[in-house]
Amino acid sequence: MTDELTLGAVYERTVEVSLERVWENVHDWEHLPWLHRGSFSGIELEEAGPWGWRAQVKSGLGEAQETRLIELRRDPHRDLYHTRTLEGPGKGSDTVVTLASRGAHQTDVRVEFWLPIADAAQARAFGAALEVLYTQLWDEDEEMMLRRQRVVDAGRQGEERTAPPNLSLGAWDDLSERLPLVVTSERGEYRVVETASGYFAHPTLCPHRGGPLEQATLEDDHVVCPWHGYRFSLANGRAADGRRCRMKPPPRVERGAHGEAELVFASPSPR
Ligand code: FES
Ligand SMILES: [Fe+2]
Repeated sequence: MTDELTLGAVYERTVEVSLERVWENVHDWEHLPWLHRGSFSGIELEEAGPWGWRAQVKSGLGEAQETRLIELRRDPHRDLYHTRTLEGPGKGSDTVVTLASRGAHQTDVRVEFWLPIADAAQARAFGAALEVLYTQLWDEDEEMMLRRQRVVDAGRQGEERTAPPNLSLGAWDDLSERLPLVVTSERGEYRVVETASGYFAHPTLCPHRGGPLEQATLEDDHVVCPWHGYRFSLANGRAADGRRCRMKPPPRVERGAHGEAELVFASPSPR
């Protein structure tokens, strides 16, 4: 397969997460234009399965936009996968990634860049550029996987039977100036924000894969998760596009009897 290809570079690193987290990340095609927004500008999936995925991957914007048909295929017998460019710039290149577990929270990663370039010096120059790109991508992936690992390790919190007490947010009159504000309650962490419709609180844990909603952008009374771009309504927590995942019911932001702002939690609904 790699007969006409030249090895441009080898990139190695150890990431501080389990092999399971790395495989989860490798199969997660959806995060490319969101988590790696500096490197990719769009993705259109053609097919995905336990074998990997194939998609039209876009980089750059406007006149400078490039589209590549990329196929990520997992070796069924080893912890190894190929990312091949089937169409577009760099067609024929094959990035071979070998993974090796070094314990519950450590995985070795070895990336070989096989390029359709006969000239060895030219292949090395391209390989060096790819090393820079992959360092950036794996930095971003590792940060995502570390948070995801913490979310998985923490597990699900037990069911609450009663609403927690109201949580004071300080004076109502200057609340607007202190936003956005991240607070911790018995029900977890919330961010308090203000939109044209008023004050809202929303959980900082994305219901999709635990993404950091404290960094979410606000659009038309929705939060947009930075990991995969899912949009959730601030009013009711529902996903804007009808996806089944939903933010847990947010508390209301209300003015208390003594002029302070409060988070008011609803009682869990009876089953
Ligand atoms: S973690 Fe995927 S959209 Fe938030
Ligand atoms: Fe990634």
